[in-house]
Amino acid sequence: MTVYERKENESVSDDIVWHNSAVSNKDRASLKNQTPVVLWFTGLSGSGKSTIANAVESLLFQLGKHSYLLDGDNVRHGLNKDLDFSNAARVENIRRISEVANLFVDSGTIVLTAFISPFVADREQARKVMKKGQFLEVFIDTPIEVCEQRDPKGLYKKARAGEISNFTGIDSQYESPTNPEIHIHTSSKTVEQCAKQVVEKLKEFGYLDVSS
Ligand code: ADX
Repeated sequence: MTVYERKENESVSDDIVWHNSAVSNKDRASLKNQTPVVLWFTGLSGSGKSTIANAVESLLFQLGKHSYLLDGDNVRHGLNKDLDFSNAARVENIRRISEVANLFVDSGTIVLTAFISPFVADREQARKVMKKGQFLEVFIDTPIEVCEQRDPKGLYKKARAGEISNFTGIDSQYESPTNPEIHIHTSSKTVEQCAKQVVEKLKEFGYLDVSS
């Protein structure tokens, strides 16, 4: 049994006290001239989460905004390398990411997370970790047939051949968002068009108002 299974939603000790810092979240955000927020990308493997998130970061950079991308495959090489693709481990994956994302938001950064995050309950839990208005769900909506056809990492092929188990969309569930703040249909658009749509929504919601 792993530590994360033993200690759900609990601190290891009661003797841990939260320290408030002298420089506030507002101070950091205003120095960066932006409103920090998490753009929580969700979608199937191969749907384009990382690619579009990268393109959004480039656009934000051009606008002089400070961002950071937390990407599923990368985070699973380090912080979450002890987690597999069982349901329990996926839940823990998302829990850790949402806590990390929250710290980045506190630093004044616009955070992009690119994880399949297949379960509605976990995404709602992630939303609750952030303050109100600091979490936007971005549904990268690509039909599984398209993802499977793209198959950029050859993983669908392996999953179909039975070489990978618990593969999202094949033998593990993906629960689509019902009411995402940003909904991107990728099939008929270029990466640039998808990224622009995300940035336009950010502008429309007032997150980029400060200087642009
Ligand atoms: S999540 O479900 O826990 O949110 P996450 O986004 O971190 O998943 O990792 C998904 C990536 O891991 C996929 O894009 C793919 O490259 C790889 N991967 C390897 N095995 C699996 C699997 N069984 N199911 C889904 N993705 C897998």
